[in-house]
Amino acid sequence: MSGVVFPTGFSLKSLQRSHPRSAFDCGQSDVNDWLRTKALQNQEKRLSSTKVLLDRDGDIAGFYTLATGQVDFGDLPSALARKLPRRALPVAILAWLGVSTVQQGQKLGDLLLAQALRDCHEAGLTFAFVAVILDCVDDRAKAFYQRWDFAELPGSTYRLFLSSQTLSAMMTPR
Ligand SMILES: CC(C)(COP(=O)(O)OP(=O)(O)OC[C@H]1O[C@@H](n2cnc3c(N)ncnc32)[C@H](O)[C@@H]1OP(=O)(O)O)[C@@H](O)C(=O)NCCC(=O)NCCS
Repeated sequence: MSGVVFPTGFSLKSLQRSHPRSAFDCGQSDVNDWLRTKALQNQEKRLSSTKVLLDRDGDIAGFYTLATGQVDFGDLPSALARKLPRRALPVAILAWLGVSTVQQGQKLGDLLLAQALRDCHEAGLTFAFVAVILDCVDDRAKAFYQRWDFAELPGSTYRLFLSSQTLSAMMTPR
């Protein structure tokens, strides 16, 4: 996958206090609440990083939040865990992603997901992890991610993973 190019007039920035977070509405209250009230505080505490996609008016068209975490060896599918040590294992977490309702349906969600995975891949060249993990808010969100080769973690209907090997393959130009 080559670098992500957003449509003309859109720009991706690290979340800042001056960005109009309280006006953001993606139609999912948990996702809205995260961006409006928690994302910046968590970023300032170095718990997660959020990038916002600004439109030409400076409004937030979409965003994603990444963090690091751990999963237990036993939570991974056996095909992935087979060659790994039996302990807590490092993962990248795609914690949140949303596109404003007025901007949905223009592929911005796909572009933000592509950029989030690119960020994970680049970070993984320095800080290794075994998979990207995410929690879906509902079945529709799950369908959105499954189009990108995310698969269910065993026993966790709404927790999906993408192995680092699959991520590397996605990011390697053919
Ligand atoms: C899910 C979401 C990010 C998609 O954003 P979007 O910009 O409208 O999506 P795109 O225009 O990039 O659509 C890309 C593809 O995903 C599909 N899609 C869009 N929204 C979808 C959804 N909610 N569920 C399943 N598939 C979806 C589209 O049909 C399209 O498929 P196609 O290429 O086969 O036509 C957006 O609907 C959203 O913010 N939802 C609320 C928050 C949320 O659920 N976030 C994810 C969990 S944190």
